[in-house]
Amino acid sequence: MNPANRQPIISVRELTAKYGECTVLDKISFEVNHGEIFIILGGSGCGKSTLMKCLIGLHQPANGAVFIDGERFPGTDEETYNRILRKIGVMYQSGALFGSMTIQENVRLAMDEFTPLTMDAKNAAVAAKLALVGLQDAAGKLPSELSGGMVKRAAIARALALDPAIVFLDEPSAGLDPITSAGLDATIIKLSRDLGITFVIVTHELASIYTLAGRCIMLDARTKGIIASGQPADLRDHPPNDLVKSFFHRQPLPTYS
Ligand SMILES: Nc1ncnc2c1ncn2[C@@H]1O[C@H](COP(=O)(O)OP(=O)(O)O)[C@@H](O)[C@H]1O
Ligand SMILES: [Mg+2]
Repeated sequence: MNPANRQPIISVRELTAKYGECTVLDKISFEVNHGEIFIILGGSGCGKSTLMKCLIGLHQPANGAVFIDGERFPGTDEETYNRILRKIGVMYQSGALFGSMTIQENVRLAMDEFTPLTMDAKNAAVAAKLALVGLQDAAGKLPSELSGGMVKRAAIARALALDPAIVFLDEPSAGLDPITSAGLDATIIKLSRDLGITFVIVTHELASIYTLAGRCIMLDARTKGIIASGQPADLRDHPPNDLVKSFFHRQPLPTYS
């Protein structure tokens, strides 16, 4: 292993996130290793998207810090910020592509902005990204001409535009049928295995969680912290508390039943 890879690719230390006076995450700490598929779980409103926004520098933590490859992010100087930003690809929960642009134009957008490549070189790079997600025939189509699963794939191709080391996906399988969702999981696993990309994925889909089989953390709105972490099968078989048990066994919480 490259010695540089021994440190975690993401390190979160005592991170507190607030909106105004309302605390959403309270002093949470965890690390993500190079090449890992890392899964963030938890009920609606517990702060999963907020955590993702902190990790990608879109929400400033009230306290604590995020380190990417050992560098504080977002730090204080713009050059470091932009360099780290280039290592990150994101698919937001809303996931939307620009409706008036073709799939090729959507995927090319970041290349247009951040690279000096010629149009031919960029279009060749876009074709390669689309092939990675199985959309090689969709370059000239508009988002409205694609199925829900294909739009998600195109959004992943767009996240890959600048060859990121880390890709963040916020609820990628939301709204997809189980077969399409399984296809998306297979694509994520292939990208992780073949390109060594680190994935940080917010998801509720139990089937996906077991398939992706990455290390999980589970957030809890009540304590505003991490209430469990580990491999999904271990959390299912040895749940540390009722909330984790109910989630992995898809049962109502005992207090509500
Ligand atoms: N921009 C915002 N302003 C104020 N409160 C917000 C904002 N975004 C999210 N929240 C609140 O923060 C909490 C966590 O939201 P979010 O991170 O979106 O949760 P999740 O993604 O787990 O559903 C929720 O109570 C939500 O209402
Ligand atoms: Mg969310």
